Amino acid sequence: METRFAIILAAGKGTRMKSALYKVLHPVCGKPMVEHIMNRVQEIQPSEIVTIVGHGAERVKEQLGSRTNYALQAEQLGTGHAVLQAASFLKGKKGTTLVISGDTPLLTSETLRALFDYHENQQAAATILTAHATDPTGYGRIIRDQTGSVAKIVEQKDASPSEEQVGEINTGTYCFDNELLFDALENIDTNNAQGEYYLTDIVEILKNEGKTVAAFQTNDFNESLGVNDRVALAEANRIMRERINLAHMKNGVTLVDPQATYIDADVLIGAETVIEPGVYLKGKTVIGERCQLLGQTQIIDSIIGEQVTITSSIIEESRVHDQVDIGPFAHLRPQAEIKEQAHIGNFVEIKKATIGERTKVGHLTYVGDATLGKEINVGCGVVFVNYDGKQKHHTTVADHAFIGSASNLIGPVHLGKNAVIAAGSTITADIPEEAMGIARARQVNKDNFASKLPFNQ
Ligand code: UD1
Ligand code: CA
Repeated sequence: METRFAIILAAGKGTRMKSALYKVLHPVCGKPMVEHIMNRVQEIQPSEIVTIVGHGAERVKEQLGSRTNYALQAEQLGTGHAVLQAASFLKGKKGTTLVISGDTPLLTSETLRALFDYHENQQAAATILTAHATDPTGYGRIIRDQTGSVAKIVEQKDASPSEEQVGEINTGTYCFDNELLFDALENIDTNNAQGEYYLTDIVEILKNEGKTVAAFQTNDFNESLGVNDRVALAEANRIMRERINLAHMKNGVTLVDPQATYIDADVLIGAETVIEPGVYLKGKTVIGERCQLLGQTQIIDSIIGEQVTITSSIIEESRVHDQVDIGPFAHLRPQAEIKEQAHIGNFVEIKKATIGERTKVGHLTYVGDATLGKEINVGCGVVFVNYDGKQKHHTTVADHAFIGSASNLIGPVHLGKNAVIAAGSTITADIPEEAMGIARARQVNKDNFASKLPFNQ
């Protein structure tokens, strides 16, 4: 096997996206397109990766970090000019170079491997990854000569009517003999409809030098989808989603309606978990085995244990342990931790708080900045008053406490073990263990008062 290099093209602005976000950073199933490409490229283990950056260079570098070298293309003069920027890293080195676009997120590493193998077997100077498109509009067309070998690539804007009819397209992915690539790049010009340095012109240059240019055709056009606008972005998301969902189903996850289930690329799900329609699992979420994720639940960057049931709820950056039951309509905000067998019920919001084992927070309650022990009962309509307008205050509640309904706990307070809050209390001081805190005005009944009310006059 030859030494492998890779060049990722990611300098374009992506004018057709009509977006402030640079094209290659637009997400497909929760992950920037260029990150998908980086993952695939890393799977083929090149000895050097160079990413060409220009528009949004800082943002792209932030995304990809130290996994690649960067070459700046200050002005976007075309794909050929972009590749040339990698010369300071790669020119003159012996090996095979993969050139890949940051806007083709559906390519698989199997296809890239097959492209390398084919290229090496053919001993070609260049091998183009091609595909057959039912609608080739917008892609460069592969023009073959009478013998069937590749003669040139013609861009849509430069194509004659008969060339436009060609269905075989350039996926924008290539293997090149590295030394020949950088030599040939010296000879491309801007003599075309867009006035750009086209990488694709290299084909003719190499052919004229008597070199072999091969084409390796994938049988799945979907893989080569190039995302230039938001229509293609939606299509890429749809295709990637189908792939992701299929893989989960094959791993033993039940998707009641796969078309209405949205799972980001890096989410992990245990077997025997059942997911109902309208569920979104985003970011770096991990779901354990035998969970039930029901009706319209959204889980973002969270870790969920085994046998957890979540109904129509939103969970962000939180940790939920085994056999917990959540919802409907609960909201776990960042840094909520729900321990084993706890119950979080209707219209409950938890933020930066730990809820201990078997503790129940059943209805209409806000718990923020608090640590609750185990087997506590939190009544209906309880508010952990954590914010005084300037600072957040932390409240702690020890095991087996009982918090009556419609109580306020004005933080910071501490409740000892088995402490009780009488319903309707506003608690401003600690309650020792085994004690009851009651903090409300005593009731007064006014006899024969109803007839004195204005509406009864
Ligand atoms: C390109 C190919 C076309 C192919 C298609 C596949 C050329 C001339 N055309 O067209 O044959 O069918 O991809 O998707 O190569 N870029 C830079 N610097 C530049 C210009 C582009 O880094 O100066 C980057 C872009 O960020 C993008 C990639 O190169 O990631 C491809 O550029 P784009 O403008 O999308 O090319 P297409 O018109 O799609
Ligand atoms: Ca493109």
